[in-house]
Amino acid sequence: MTTDPIAADLAALFPAREAIPAEHRPQAAAYERLYLLDGRVRAWEGPLAEVPAAFSVREGDALVRPVVGRVPAMDEAAVLAALESCRRAWDEGRGDWPTRSVAERIAAVEKFTARMREAREEVVRLLMWEIGKTLEDSRKEFDRTVEYIGRTVEALKAMDRDYSRFAVDGGVVAQVRRAPLGVVLSMGPFNYPLNETYTTLLPALIMGNVVLVKPPRLGSLIHQPLLQAFAESFPPGVVNFIYGSGPEITPPLMQSGAVDVLAFIGSSKAATTLKKQHPRPHRLRGVLGLDAKNPALVMADADLDVAVRECVSGALSYNGQRCTALKILFVHESVAGPFLEKFSAAVAALPLGMPWEPGARITPLPGHGKAEAMAAYVRDAVERGARVVNPGGGQAAASLFRPAVLYPVAPGMKVYDVEQFGPVVPVCPYKDEEEFLAYVTASSSGQQVSLFGRDAEKIAGLIDLLANQVCRINLNAQCQRGPDTLPFAGRKDSAEGTLSISAALRSFSIRSLVAGKDDPEGRGLLQQIVAGRLSRYLRADYLG
Ligand code: G3H
Repeated sequence: MTTDPIAADLAALFPAREAIPAEHRPQAAAYERLYLLDGRVRAWEGPLAEVPAAFSVREGDALVRPVVGRVPAMDEAAVLAALESCRRAWDEGRGDWPTRSVAERIAAVEKFTARMREAREEVVRLLMWEIGKTLEDSRKEFDRTVEYIGRTVEALKAMDRDYSRFAVDGGVVAQVRRAPLGVVLSMGPFNYPLNETYTTLLPALIMGNVVLVKPPRLGSLIHQPLLQAFAESFPPGVVNFIYGSGPEITPPLMQSGAVDVLAFIGSSKAATTLKKQHPRPHRLRGVLGLDAKNPALVMADADLDVAVRECVSGALSYNGQRCTALKILFVHESVAGPFLEKFSAAVAALPLGMPWEPGARITPLPGHGKAEAMAAYVRDAVERGARVVNPGGGQAAASLFRPAVLYPVAPGMKVYDVEQFGPVVPVCPYKDEEEFLAYVTASSSGQQVSLFGRDAEKIAGLIDLLANQVCRINLNAQCQRGPDTLPFAGRKDSAEGTLSISAALRSFSIRSLVAGKDDPEGRGLLQQIVAGRLSRYLRADYLG
């Protein structure tokens, strides 16, 4: 272990293996070989990949990273077999699932959700171990996801009621409904591996698509306790789960041309690579959540207590590892002193600890080399004239990194432009709001901003300009995705498509309408089909 007394202090926060409470230990060994193919949970006979814990344990004088479990390290042949299974289930749109009635699909999703609830505690344990999310936030992620699925069902019923009507115009009588798109490749991120996978996976399924899920390496075990629920709720091939190294197994999937929708949350660089591999890019729909560098503007008249509270939570919830995190703060030079004083004190008060420890707010960073990457951002900024303003900021031991508040940050420093995705908070003094507008305009991201101030006229002027730069302007509040009824979108390199409970249903479907002549014969034919309940698609009944 380290001889540096400060780092030793941090290192002491890691527990001895036997000190981890039994109720917070996952049973990962029970399902480490499992994958889902063709309606059956199977044991993979090939090589396995280890999933390291986000934290270390103390063994004598050493800090050792435990292995949470293992997942299949699949090869090209295995993932192509899974794709083939999806294609069979889709069957050019003639499969059992894509032609089922909406009511039948809803019943399957509800069956899955009931089974999913039973796995709550194990999924929560895995979230803590794999990605280091606190117990409270892991539970929130699980519950929010279950609630999202329930509200998706309600939104689909409402949509179904709207689509039961017939439109009459220009001599045409038509019913407009939404039909599925085909095979979806779903790739969620490590930071919300459950929520950001299932909030596209379940809407895609309920609309009649078939889905091939490739979880992120960190955040893959959390799906394992749910595989049996998928197997029992959906017909064979409608959902398959594959695991392996993205750069190895995704090119053959995309190059096959059989993926109709790419649902991907990650970097814009990776999304570009994936899209370029598709032989017919115009046939590929993207539902993408990508880079973001959301800035906050703290104006001279801002309520500093509100700004500090929101910026601390906005920049450092889940250690700053949220796409919506505030990743740079612009503070008017006249209030920079008092702001930094309050902000540093609030950051210093955030307790560091293991994810299951009550009150822990800053937890170990998942993956290897993340704390080192954060330290490199701090070094770069300090070499270029910034200083760490909070006591102990930037100290690290293994994967635990004490948040660093950097000031004054300026162009030329990496943290000015790069999305740090971690507990480093760059603070930039400014004189004129034009500097902030210029930053937002030049940025390659366009997700959200936060404005802190009280001058309605000034804020109104900023809103009018920022509305054409980003997709959400938060007033005296941090950036965030929720509530899930609101559209979540981004411009530039930040996103493609819009997500919300109802927008996701539209993102994974296409309008397909039935139109006849508005004359006695045309109406008669439509009436015959509807009254005789001859079609599952063209119908006038609706779901209550
Ligand atoms: O990582 C990006 C998430 O969609 C952020 O969601 O704002 O609810 O944390 P959140």
